[in-house]
Amino acid sequence: MSKGDGTVTLAESGTKNAVELPVMSGTVGPRVIDIQKLYGDMGVFTYDPGFAATASCQSRITYIDGEEGVLLHRGYPIEQLAEESDFTEVSYLLLNGELPTAAEKMQFQNDVARHTMVHEQLTTFYRGFRRDAHPMAVMVGVVGALSAFYHDSTDINDPHQRTVASFRMIAKMPTIAAMAYKYSLGQPFIYPQNHLNYAENFLNMMFSVPCEPYRINPVLAKAMDRIFILHADHEQNASTSTVRLAGSSGANPFACIAAGIACLWGPAHGGANEAVLKMLEEIGTVDRVPEYIKRAKDKNDPFRLMGFGHRVYKNYDPRAKVMQRTCHEVLDDLGLHDEPLLKLAMKLERIALEDEYFIEKKLYPNVDFYSGIILRAMGFPSSMFTVLFAVARTVGWIAQWNEMIADPQQRIGRPRQLYLGPTRRDYVPIGTRG
Ligand code: ACO
Repeated sequence: MSKGDGTVTLAESGTKNAVELPVMSGTVGPRVIDIQKLYGDMGVFTYDPGFAATASCQSRITYIDGEEGVLLHRGYPIEQLAEESDFTEVSYLLLNGELPTAAEKMQFQNDVARHTMVHEQLTTFYRGFRRDAHPMAVMVGVVGALSAFYHDSTDINDPHQRTVASFRMIAKMPTIAAMAYKYSLGQPFIYPQNHLNYAENFLNMMFSVPCEPYRINPVLAKAMDRIFILHADHEQNASTSTVRLAGSSGANPFACIAAGIACLWGPAHGGANEAVLKMLEEIGTVDRVPEYIKRAKDKNDPFRLMGFGHRVYKNYDPRAKVMQRTCHEVLDDLGLHDEPLLKLAMKLERIALEDEYFIEKKLYPNVDFYSGIILRAMGFPSSMFTVLFAVARTVGWIAQWNEMIADPQQRIGRPRQLYLGPTRRDYVPIGTRG
């Protein structure tokens, strides 16, 4: 392959088979070879399992430089947003491209607040689940079912319906998540309180009960808000790509978000924060850390250090730094600094960061490493960790879904394959099979 002026020529050695492909530049980041005419002109596909070298779309929402540990939303660094902004503003930014004015923020807050309650009949839907169901199983089911409850906002060709569906999902997700938790406990569902902000309202629906007042701890509310900001969007990750792929067929937005939730559940993605806690509990004591580090390095052992490594970040995940700080703030406030799991986590972090294997493979703690510890300190059961991730990521999924619908180049997603199965052969009747 040779680079020309804005094009790349791909030639098959020993043949005259060649094609000139345009090279596209974004505002920042690596250039991209447009291979759309590759198959038509040359009769070959590209092979890229895991899409590690493939740009699946054009986007203006989020930029990541994994080598440098940079994450920008609409150009703003995540550290600044986490420090100075709030989740409502970040949501507005992701959806609309700019930070809101005071009036726009107020309007946005009101628009979201108008949709925080769920259809009362949805409560009977919950009662069909077992009480011990994993809350992510409940989330996949209930969010998918929203299209049955809100059929008047499923026409993706109507911009008004798309807007209403977007507000509905951002507003209802905390309510649905808290209901999943309350149902597992057998406690009454708590209605949303629209005078509270997004994070406060969620904490109230999670932890208050009708029989006594509940005081929202401002340190925990701030931490919750920050966790939501840090998880709000992350470019074309597995669940976002799932939402886009589902949406590319014209599926309704509730179905697409349910697909995203299903993908997020996996332990290699959003399920990692739950897996971190399970791993720390399994390790148990600080003296067993070296044994587990050894296992993580052993090629013949499937064990991986949960909360370490990232497909894109080959440097410190910038969200992990903010999360680490928030973790200390929460533990200080709750007086839990001597919490054995945190001590264990810190020891694990230190040893892994000094270990040649982790240094060489550029494996750093990711955002999930710390979020699990904070969430546990705040009183969330580990089964709810991925649910919180889904609540936060909903706005990113919706922003990406909206961008895809508006993109004139959007087509149904349909990857090809390198086929390795049998070639054509004739059917053999069962009685004559050897
Ligand atoms: N522990 C031990 N070794 C690891 C780890 C880990 N956590 N992560 C990667 N490696 C090793 C791999 O075995 C591989 O070694 P090799 O080159 O000798 O074969 C090398 O590092 C590269 O790893 P890949 O699997 O190729 O990296 P990939 O980009 O495919 O995977 C992933 C990234 C899935 C996140 C991986 O690092 C992992 O499984 N981490 C643990 C789970 C986790 O924390 N996930 C959360 C991701 S962040 C998020 O979703 C918000």
